[in-house]
Amino acid sequence: MKLIAGNWKMFKGPRETREFCAAFSTPAGVDAVLCPPFVSLPAAVESGHTVFAQNVHWADDGAFTGEISAPMLLELGVSGAIVGHSERRQYFGETDETVARRTVAALRHGLRVIACVGESLEERESGQMDLVLRLQVETIADVAGAEEGLAIAYEPVWAIGTGQTATPEQAREVHAFIKSLLDVPVLYGGSVKPDNAEELLSQEGVDGALVGGASLDVESFTAICQAAAT
Ligand code: PGA
Repeated sequence: MKLIAGNWKMFKGPRETREFCAAFSTPAGVDAVLCPPFVSLPAAVESGHTVFAQNVHWADDGAFTGEISAPMLLELGVSGAIVGHSERRQYFGETDETVARRTVAALRHGLRVIACVGESLEERESGQMDLVLRLQVETIADVAGAEEGLAIAYEPVWAIGTGQTATPEQAREVHAFIKSLLDVPVLYGGSVKPDNAEELLSQEGVDGALVGGASLDVESFTAICQAAAT
């Protein structure tokens, strides 16, 4: 079954979350996950949908202002977390090492994890893509291995929020490369929309999608989930 995760980023407080959740139902044959901001997690969990956080810290508790731990998420009924999203790497100093630490701690507590990797346009065009992806994936593989509950999201940075997706061939090629380094489900992310979802999701090695902008609207997120179910 394909995993379709809606990464809402810093959109939708509790009220809008309740509205979305009331209007959304997961189509049969797909593993649909909602990833709202931290303050909206309780509202999403109460709706009965499967819910992931957008980040999780490696310590159970401690002096880490602004962070949230795996036991805290579990207490709320959250099932997993995204870690290492490119926006965290780009704006908040997330590194391959911190991503790996977050991943291993979350898995140890029984949370599912979507760990994000992806190259920038400059890295792709200068021939650094394989090296960058290898470092990102192997840092996770070294500490976590192909553990149950772990998925990688391949999100080329140049495709996020730009309307420019990887071609099906590019996705196939990179997904195969990632799986050769760490044999876990690999999701594609970066401008997935209702009109390109079916083609991307039908590629070999594409085990689901991490959807940003198009996950904010119930109809378009439902259409993407339906494309994954067919
Ligand atoms: P996008 O975002 O679908 O809006 O490109 C994807 C992501 O950042 O996870």
